[in-house]
Formats: sequence, structure tokens, C-alpha cells
Amino acid sequence: MRIDIITVVPELLEGPFSASIMKRAADKGIAEVHLHNLRDYSSDNYNSVDDYAFGGGAGMVMSIGPIDRCIKTLKEERKYDEVIYMSPDGHQLDQALSNQLSLKENLIILAGHYKGVDERVREHLVTMEISIGDYVLSGGELAAAVLADSVIRLLPGVLNDETSALTDSFQDGLLAPPVYTRPAEYNGWEVPEILRSGNLKGIEQWRHDQSVERTKKKRPDLYKKYSSD
Ligand code: ADE
Repeated sequence: MRIDIITVVPELLEGPFSASIMKRAADKGIAEVHLHNLRDYSSDNYNSVDDYAFGGGAGMVMSIGPIDRCIKTLKEERKYDEVIYMSPDGHQLDQALSNQLSLKENLIILAGHYKGVDERVREHLVTMEISIGDYVLSGGELAAAVLADSVIRLLPGVLNDETSALTDSFQDGLLAPPVYTRPAEYNGWEVPEILRSGNLKGIEQWRHDQSVERTKKKRPDLYKKYSSD
């Protein structure tokens, strides 16, 4: 998979993809993330990528020209499945959407800044708008990193244990069960007996029951959906 991220602050995105699991995905050739500085596509000597809003009002608006030129340049090289704009008013990201995007080959993600982008970018260039939650970040970069991470970790071969993404919270509509490691007893706090029993069927049942209990308690909205399916 290839993900191209268009941004005015590429520095914000260098960290998340240069360590740990995202780096491993790149080193193994499973996922490439390319950062593009929108200022490189400006048409003036000031490298400007924004302008005042027609009709007045506070805040600058990202111009369509540099965004269009950047997307066009990328599309000349390869076909893209989606051009995603990160925005708090987009479709809210969840595990099902990450799963769906992990099946794609090439994605462009546009990280917005300032007061937003010229609406014509959304109307004519973008195919999908995604929010990572009902709160406003100072730019779309961190949201783009969250989206790319949630997608890349699902690609086969990225996680060491092939099954571990399958047992994540939300994959079956439930939160993940509790996990423990050694020591079996610490300060008198004990690891549940069943997990030390070697009874694989019993452990599987216990984990499922814990998942259901935890979801019921912490996310009644998810539990309602799960129990009605
Ligand atoms: N840009 C600013 N806030 C955002 C959010 N919550 N999700 C996606 N992009 C954003």
C-alpha cells in the first residue's frame, strides 16, 4: 500500500512514521508513506497556499490551486483509490472504515489547516471526508497520522503476530478482554486462575465473557449494537 499525505507542516508527520510499527511496515516494504509539502506547489514567490475568504470573515482559506497541482502530479504517476480530506465535519472514523481502507492500494490524504479549504476542493477533488472525532485539532496532520496508523497496522505482515489485529477491540464489535503478564501475583493482586490453567477452551470462553462484560459496562452504545446483531 502507498499513502501520500499532502500537508503544509510535513515536520508534524515525520515522527509517527519513523518509529515502531509504522517504520517496520515501511522497512518490510508493506506500506510506503510519502509526505508532500503543499508549499512546493504554490504559484507565487512567497510560497503561499492560502488566501482571504471571499465575503470576509476571520481566518485564511486554503487555496485550490496548489492542492490541485499536487494531486494532479501524484495522479500522473499512479491511480488512486481515494482522495481523503481530514476534517472535523467528515464521516467519523471507526474500525470498519479502517478495515475497508486497508484493502486499497493507493490513498491520498489531504491534511487541512487554517479555516478550511476552498469548498471547490471538496466538491471536485476529494472523494472522501474523514473525521477522527467530535473535537477540533489545529490541523489535519495528527488526524491523518491516526488514520494512516489505524490502516497500516492492519496490513498482513505488519504486526508480528498475524492474529493480533484480529483480536483488537472493535474487530468483532466488542472491546478487547483484559490481559496480564508475569508475575502471577504482585502485592497480593492475582492474575485470574483460569488464565494460568492451560485450559484453552476455558480461557477462550473467559475472554469472550470478559469482552462482553467490559463492553456492556464501558460502551453501552456498542453493546446495544452487538446484542441486536
Ligand atoms: N482537522 C481538525 N480537526 C479534525 C478532526 N477532528 N478530524 C479530522 N481532521 C481534523
